[in-house]
Amino acid sequence: MIKFDLFGKNKKKQTVDSSSDYLRDREYICENLSFQAAEAYKMLRTSIGFSLASVKGCKIIGITSANGSEGKSLCAINLAYTLALQGSKVLLIDADLRLPTVAKRLGLNKAPGFSELLTGQTENVIQKSELNPNLMVITSGGLPAHPSELLGEDRTVSVLNSLGRMLDYIILDLPPVNEVSDALNVSRALDGYVFVVKSGYSGKTLVKQAVEKLKFTNTEILGFVMVDDDKDSIGKYGKYGKYGKYGKYGKYSEYQTSENVDGAGSKQD
Ligand SMILES: Nc1ncnc2c1ncn2[C@@H]1O[C@H](COP(=O)(O)OP(=O)(O)OP(=O)(O)O)[C@@H](O)[C@H]1O
Ligand SMILES: [Mg+2]
Repeated sequence: MIKFDLFGKNKKKQTVDSSSDYLRDREYICENLSFQAAEAYKMLRTSIGFSLASVKGCKIIGITSANGSEGKSLCAINLAYTLALQGSKVLLIDADLRLPTVAKRLGLNKAPGFSELLTGQTENVIQKSELNPNLMVITSGGLPAHPSELLGEDRTVSVLNSLGRMLDYIILDLPPVNEVSDALNVSRALDGYVFVVKSGYSGKTLVKQAVEKLKFTNTEILGFVMVDDDKDSIGKYGKYGKYGKYGKYGKYSEYQTSENVDGAGSKQD
């Protein structure tokens, strides 16, 4: 069994990334959330608690969506934070090993992280978030050669189970289902998925396709989270937005070393 120093004092600190995207996103994160958004996350926390009431011990939840840029990472961070607020011991893992954002958003070290843990390079990967003493974070680490296969290995299941012995919740920020197979491959390590849909942005057909794929995994979709009905941002990430057909996870993206599953279509139907 792997032993982890989860809530010890020996954790590193880093400053929050000051690039404009992440600064802008800070208004959607944790203590900066509007009253309504914070309440919505508390409702989500309650619903998840009921949905997984029969799961003994740590509940392991994957956050995913149909395609890129639909709000998965912000949802994962806010859900983990909201669970920690109620006193639950929570570990947030950036399991989007291809386009990780948690380290930058929370001002943590990107590596070593989950990929180094899964490949057995080190177990010293747990960082303190500074947001709440109950919230620990494992950032993505470096980009592994085969992220999807790595997440599907038996070791991933045993690592998460070992971590879970000291925790109430593990929240995994995952890549989108229609673009790469990672979120599907890690299914057997999870108790359920939370599926994020971005209002005015996630296409109906693409959402349906993604849900169909998740159904094959036999891991339950616990619920759907709809984010962002802000008209300004709908314009910004519209039909032919920057994550179109050859989107950033896609065949012609900067991640062409990673296997491309179905390729992304346009964002809206
Ligand atoms: N609740 C929200 N309200 C308004 N805007 C949001 C919300 N959630 C996300 N966004 C916007 O969507 C963008 C993408 O969010 P995020 O990085 O969480 O998506 P993602 O699905 O994790 O993307 P990726 O597929 O790249 O991992 C953010 O930069 C933010 O501007
Ligand atoms: Mg993300």
